[in-house]
Amino acid sequence: MIYLNGDFLPIEEARVPVLDRGFIFGDGVYEVIPVYSRKPFRLAEHLLRLQHSLDGIRLQNPHSDSEWSDMLEQVIAGNEGDDQYLYLHITRGVARRDHAFPKGAVPTVFIMSNPLLAPPRELLATGVAAITASDNRWLRCDIKAISLLPNVLLRQMAVDAGAMETVLLREGFMTEGAASNIFVVKNGILLAPPKNHLMLPGITYDVVLELAAAEKIPCEVREVSEYEVRTAQELLLTSSTKEIMPITRLDDKPVGDGKPGTMFALLHRLYQSYKQTTMRGAPSIS
Ligand code: PDD
Repeated sequence: MIYLNGDFLPIEEARVPVLDRGFIFGDGVYEVIPVYSRKPFRLAEHLLRLQHSLDGIRLQNPHSDSEWSDMLEQVIAGNEGDDQYLYLHITRGVARRDHAFPKGAVPTVFIMSNPLLAPPRELLATGVAAITASDNRWLRCDIKAISLLPNVLLRQMAVDAGAMETVLLREGFMTEGAASNIFVVKNGILLAPPKNHLMLPGITYDVVLELAAAEKIPCEVREVSEYEVRTAQELLLTSSTKEIMPITRLDDKPVGDGKPGTMFALLHRLYQSYKQTTMRGAPSIS
């Protein structure tokens, strides 16, 4: 069961006009929100990032946070499984094709839910492969835009190479993954690129940094060079659907000793226990 413009209905019955600006221009933004034990994880943070994306494309938020929360609850209730991921999508609506903003168009709002499957244990035990590529996206990667063509092409490069993710490099520095944020471990220090217009401010990225601070894990938020990526002890990827995963091969070479490292093991454990605690109703990291 999905939500589309005020109605809850089976996905097979959902229809969007071909002149929707999402279809014509990719003119819209989205969010992906994990749901554990039927509760949205870090909802306030996801709604805040949604507002940032809407502001970035100059589209008024069609709903208040409590309206979003109600709609999301109903979609969760209408779908099977305790762990799901919500996909929320807003476009500038339906209008005659013209690049400039249409007057009086009503935003299209779509929410669906899919089962959220934790990364398989085998993958966490071996780690995954990644490749590198030049980050050829636009300069507003902080907006979670539905126009994802560069990300689609970049991630397909990984799939074609038998890898899980593409680590993006821009002018000698790492930005993020095609569909994830990337952390580097070097000399026992967790390195994270600073949030700016070159990367999506990941919700999972924030959780990892908060956990690192709470556990006094040595950590530096600063630009991370391509050299540091290529000589890393460990590489980690994070996203709402993949949580934290170890990258153990980069461009067909082992990362560190080629096995998931101690930083991954620690952060993964902390992340799992944080998830449990939050879902029991204690959302803050002390
Ligand atoms: N993608 N960077 C990019 C380019 C992403 O697409 C994502 C997530 C992230 C991680 O952000 P978060 O931790 O908030 O999920 C970083 C989602 C999962 C997707 O597009 O399906």
